[in-house]
Amino acid sequence: MTTRRAVCPGSFDPVTNGHLDIIGRASLIFDEVIVAVLINKSKSSLFTVDERIEMLAECTAKYGNVKIDSFHGLLVDFCRDRGIQVIVKGLRAVSDFDYELQMGQMNHSLAGIETLFMPTNPLYSYLSSSLVKEVATYGGDVSTLLPESVNARVVDRLR
Ligand code: PNS
Repeated sequence: MTTRRAVCPGSFDPVTNGHLDIIGRASLIFDEVIVAVLINKSKSSLFTVDERIEMLAECTAKYGNVKIDSFHGLLVDFCRDRGIQVIVKGLRAVSDFDYELQMGQMNHSLAGIETLFMPTNPLYSYLSSSLVKEVATYGGDVSTLLPESVNARVVDRLR
């Protein structure tokens, strides 16, 4: 029987409770979930790729079938190399839909890879890593939006 493998791709700078909600739900549907951190040297980030991988590994250890990796270049090439059949994306609001649909269609036409859109838990529908960083930069409390260890690292980094 083939292993049903899905990828949750993103920048994860840093991972939020919204990401973890999607990763955890995907882990119940697929045999294996690979969380793939995009290496994007042209985008400035709060955490290095290694730090992001470390935080993701800590926060997803409880799921058992989730692995963390990184990639650069096209996501479909990463999927092909690792035998991944499905891309899982969380949809927070209608505003996410246009671009996600476009990417899903492009990825399907490039490599026949399917995209599964998962509605975000409404608790996290306003949540994004960039907003969390902005709020934390100005001293706002984001502790309910991040895993405890990630919140500690964000506070420490921005101190
Ligand atoms: O967390 P992000 O930054 O919103 O994630 C975006 C990501 C990594 C999912 C997207 O930019 C991506 O897939 N990049 C890889 C490059 C690629 O395959 N581009 C073509 C997309 S159709």
